[in-house]
Amino acid sequence: MKKIKETINHLHKTSTAALKKAKTADILEQIRIEYLGRNGKIAKLMSTLKERSLEDKRVLGPILNELKKSVQATYEQHKERIDTQSVSKQLFDVTAYQPNQLRGGLHIYTQIIHELSQIFISMGYTVAQGPEVETEYYNFTSLNIPEDHPARDSHDTFWLCTPDKLLRTHTSTVQAHAMEQTKPPLAVFAPGRCCRSEATDASHDFMFTQGEIILIDKKISVSNLLATAQAFLQAFFNKKDLEIRVRPGYFPFVEPGLEIDGSCPFCKSGCSICKKTGWIELLGSGLVHPNVLRSSGIDPEKYSGFACGFGIERLAMLKYGINDIRYFHSSNLAFLKQF
Ligand code: PHE
Repeated sequence: MKKIKETINHLHKTSTAALKKAKTADILEQIRIEYLGRNGKIAKLMSTLKERSLEDKRVLGPILNELKKSVQATYEQHKERIDTQSVSKQLFDVTAYQPNQLRGGLHIYTQIIHELSQIFISMGYTVAQGPEVETEYYNFTSLNIPEDHPARDSHDTFWLCTPDKLLRTHTSTVQAHAMEQTKPPLAVFAPGRCCRSEATDASHDFMFTQGEIILIDKKISVSNLLATAQAFLQAFFNKKDLEIRVRPGYFPFVEPGLEIDGSCPFCKSGCSICKKTGWIELLGSGLVHPNVLRSSGIDPEKYSGFACGFGIERLAMLKYGINDIRYFHSSNLAFLKQF
């Protein structure tokens, strides 16, 4: 009897010490099997009770049960300790940090549209967006391009199956929307996606982004347009001495229509970007045609305004030296990671 009590005490001591020392879940499990397992030390000791007297069984039974409970409790306590240690190790594992991991970033479209918006916001414009799926009215008719006008053909329109619906071919569509929504004076910058059913090459894509500014007020003249265009280009190319020159251009929704070139921001005497001319074609523009004002309910006798449009990819390509427009929506990570 004395001997078995000593064994019980010994088992209690050694199991507690071993559990306390255990550093990993594997070692802890081995100790559990050694003491609490089906063929473990405690089970073996319990099985020796069979050979004992009824008297001994009555005394030793509860003591052995107590031992089992106590070892089990100590085991659980240490299991919790090891589990929390390993979780916190996972959370704060400094070796998991890899400085070269690929991080997300804003797409060049988002960045450039943000940059342009900031320039126009600083000039007092609001940023607006129009629908990408348009009606014939907003894409053509409201812009002084009647049904049988040849200018419609030059737009290579993607017509949708739904009658009267198309993918807008330019952001000039926003002119009529803006004038219908806001009474003059108004100043709006509208960036957005446009589509034309064109063959693609390094400088043409069937899907591209245009920016359009429109300003309507009393006594707006070509000089307001030119001053705005120059200030915009100087800010965008970060070049205070950028100059502009004007050539006549034809767009049915403006009169007069003007093509605006900027002096090459990259050279003084001619380079490959300006094709040795010193000038780069940048903006289409003009004074809003009286018919366009009228169709949006604005009296051309009282108000006048200008509109100016540009290809956003083209500006970005010039500024960042990108040589193929198709990169913009190619998901090419080597290209995108540069921005
Ligand atoms: N929408 C014209 C185009 O796509 C550009 C433009 C805008 C021209 C505004 C004049 C005024 O070519």
